[in-house]
Order: sequence, then structure tokens, then C-alpha cells
Amino acid sequence: MKPGHSLMRHYLQFKDLRAEEYAYLFERARIIKTRFKNYERYQPLVDRTLAMIFEKASTRTRVSFEAGMYQMGGSVVHLTTGDSQLGRAEPAEDSARVISRMVDIVMIRTYEQSMLERFAAHSRVPVINGLTNEYHPCQILADIFTFIEHRGDIRGKVVAWVGDGNNMANTWLQAAEILGFTVHVSTPSGYEIDPAVAGVRDTNCYKVFNHPMQACEGAHLVTTDVWTSMGYEAENEERRKAFVDWCVDEEMMAVAQPDALFMHCLPAHRGEEVTAEVIDGPQSVVWDEAENRMHAQKALMEYLLLGRIG
Ligand code: CP
Ligand code: NVA
Repeated sequence: MKPGHSLMRHYLQFKDLRAEEYAYLFERARIIKTRFKNYERYQPLVDRTLAMIFEKASTRTRVSFEAGMYQMGGSVVHLTTGDSQLGRAEPAEDSARVISRMVDIVMIRTYEQSMLERFAAHSRVPVINGLTNEYHPCQILADIFTFIEHRGDIRGKVVAWVGDGNNMANTWLQAAEILGFTVHVSTPSGYEIDPAVAGVRDTNCYKVFNHPMQACEGAHLVTTDVWTSMGYEAENEERRKAFVDWCVDEEMMAVAQPDALFMHCLPAHRGEEVTAEVIDGPQSVVWDEAENRMHAQKALMEYLLLGRIG
């Protein structure tokens, strides 16, 4: 980290940053995105290295972190379970001690949040959660940046979550508590959000509905995710049956606000959790959402490594 920037911060959950830090990051993401669109070189991370550790597959997370780091002048080391000693049971603690002596920042996509936490506890450098079974904070960072770009402040708004009580859902709840909006949640029975895992104290930041149509009523944003997340593939058939009514369609969008947005972290399965008409329709902002992963994470890496600019 930059000399003088002594307070090391990790980004393991959405609640690791405060509301005023998010306000700063959304503004930095806007500036960084504008410069990128104007082909202005901005390289504050020359000679800095990001290690990316993937224990699960990825398209967006890899491309957004890797391209973003190179654009900022840095470089990237890409590790997977299969091609590193992580796959041969080297402890997270030892991996962290070694990797963090050679790089400046680490991004990890893994299964249990506890692995990420053990790694972070033994890391000399900031660690970022690139998705765990429990949380996906970089995605919600980009999603809220996307909402702000299209509709302005998210405070006081209603976000409808239709589908699995998974890592994305948990992270939306954390974001609602910190940034002051409400999540209307509808999950099939047996796939509810566990408030203890979501880790929210304020039960006013979400409301649970039995039917997805009820959750969508009046929402400013409707969002969903795959029926089966990575790591849960053995439950695929069971989930296909349980989730059949949790498909975001035009009827659900029709009961939301007339200018409601649709988001999906992707990858999507048209005809399962969302119809093609909705994801490819006029209210969908999924491509902006995916692109914004890069701009938002550039702002995040800049903040964790250099602190506030200016
Ligand atoms: N949304 C997201 O994290 O996508 P990838 O799995 O492709 O990284
Ligand atoms: N909930 C999904 C998100 C993928 C980006 C998963 O964990 O597989």
C-alpha cells in the first residue's frame, strides 16, 4: 500500500464499508468510467500486482478485475485450485502468508466465507471477496452504481428480490441496511434468506412475501439470479421444481414501478429465472451492470491501495 496509507482494509462483505465510503466509491467509479470512455490514461497502480484466486468458474469477475488492473497500470497473477497448491490442500493461512508477500492486493472467489476470512487474517495486503457461498459484494457495488447512473439515489427505494436466498440476496440485505433502502424478498419455501448469514441487524431493511408478484409490486428495481448457484449443482433437479414460479416475467415487471429497472448479475438462464422478453427488454440494464463491475472495482482497488484521492 501507499506509504502513509497505513490502515489496511479488506472487502470481505458489503458491510465492511460505511455509507459515506460508498458515496465516495460511487463518485470515483463515475470519474474513472468517464476517463476510460474518453481514452484518458489513468495509471495510479503502476508496479502494483493483483493476485486473483479462483476456486469457482468466472467470466465477468475475471475480466473486470484483470482488465481493470491493467488499465490502472498494474499487473495480475491468475491462480486456480487446479493449477496451484491450493488444490493440494495447502492451508489458506500459509497461502495468504506467501502470496501477500509478493503482491499488493488479492481477490478470491471460493466456497466458504470462512476460507476467505482465514486468508484475510493472515494476509499483509487487502483481500477482496470475488464471491463466496455467502456473499457477492463486488456485484452489489456495481449494481447500485448502475442504479444510481440510471435513476439517482437508491435511498428510500424498493428492490424486489425474486428467487434463491443466496449470496446475492444476503448481500442485497446488507446493502439495504447500510444505504437505506428496502428489499422485498420472495423465495420458494425451503430457500429463504437466513438473516443470521445475511448478517443484518435492522429487520426493517427487508420484507418477505410468499408470492413473487407481491414482492415486485411498486418496486423500483426487480432483480433475480440463477436457481442453482455454483457449488449446489447436486440440488439442480430439486431446485428446478421448487423455483418454477420464480421466473421474472412481463407480468411481474408490470406491477413494479412503470420505470422499474431489471438487473441480473449473470450468467442468466432465459426461460428459468427470467424470460427472454424481460432480460432482453427495454427495462433491462444487465449489460451496463456487467460493464460496471470493472469501473466499480477499479474504484474499490484504488481506495483500498491508495486511500482517498485528492
Ligand atoms: N456476475 C458474476 O460474478 O459473473 P462471473 O461468475 O462470470 O464472474
Ligand atoms: N449466485 C450465483 C452468482 C454467480 C455470479 C452463484 O453463486 O453461482
